[in-house]
Amino acid sequence: MKHDSILITGASSGLGHSLALTLARPGRRLFLGGRNAERLTETARQCISRGAAAEIRLCDVTHRSAMEEWVQGTGGLDMVLACAGITGGTRRPPAPDMAPYEPDAQVRQMFATNVEGVLNTVLPALRLMLTQPRAQDGLRGRICAISSVAGVVSYPGTPAYSAAKAAVDRFMVATGGNMKQAGILLSSVVCGFLNTPMVARNRFPMPGLMDVDNASRRILRGLRRNERRIVFPHWLVAGSRFMDLLPIRLAEAYYTNQPTGAAGSMPEPDLS
Ligand SMILES: NC(=O)c1ccc[n+]([C@@H]2O[C@H](COP(=O)([O-])OP(=O)(O)OC[C@H]3O[C@@H](n4cnc5c(N)ncnc54)[C@H](OP(=O)(O)O)[C@@H]3O)[C@@H](O)[C@H]2O)c1
Repeated sequence: MKHDSILITGASSGLGHSLALTLARPGRRLFLGGRNAERLTETARQCISRGAAAEIRLCDVTHRSAMEEWVQGTGGLDMVLACAGITGGTRRPPAPDMAPYEPDAQVRQMFATNVEGVLNTVLPALRLMLTQPRAQDGLRGRICAISSVAGVVSYPGTPAYSAAKAAVDRFMVATGGNMKQAGILLSSVVCGFLNTPMVARNRFPMPGLMDVDNASRRILRGLRRNERRIVFPHWLVAGSRFMDLLPIRLAEAYYTNQPTGAAGSMPEPDLS
């Protein structure tokens, strides 16, 4: 199938920005979403300089009707990449006999952005693609959402993020099993740390930290191969899956002694 018309959320930064640039070429129309006008415009400028047509949309993925309007208004999409997301960890205990915690607002914003935001992208895209004719290879479109290795484990340092990413992965992989009959391929990306602004201020070593442009190429290769779940680095994801098989008390004893994701070691997300 052709990949002439592509919508990307989170295109103003990090992975979404890198995917946009990697995909930008003459004959391609890119619909780029984000909230930061300056950074999104800069992504579009760079895509246009590579020969693509690029249209920006300032849009919060948590706004369901605005997302619906944006997706439907494109008139047709070959590929959708749902990259928008936020992260955040636990805060230090407020008193010596208290526990690390995530503020309620952070938990809710994490689910609103990382779960609802993905649904607000994927569901209208599915509806739109179902109206599109099949290409010669039988496909109508592809949709990919970014999960995380964090979704493979119940990580005490990032409870809401882990839960949200698990939901994204399960939804994409399971729905993909149905939608392939209709010629729409769904993929979930289960990746480790990428060197983007999201993790730039983490105060702990990040095992397997990967260059974001390498990650983009790895994701696009997975999509070309019709992989339902695109996994990298394998050793990190395999190790995490093993940890998740252990009795919870053993896994927790290990996690709580790791510097990664210790309470107060991640920047607080913007909850405005
Ligand atoms: N970096 C990693 O180590 C890593 C690892 C695994 C998975 N991931 C996932 O990869 C995806 C991309 O992350 P990244 O590393 O590229 O982070 P990033 O550099 O912080 O970029 C996040 C993007 O999401 C957008 N975004 C956040 N909230 C939004 C909202 N409510 N509405 C619309 N756009 C919103 C941001 O747009 P504005 O800035 O314009 O608001 C930005 O473009 C995320 O889903 C993340 O969870 C990242």
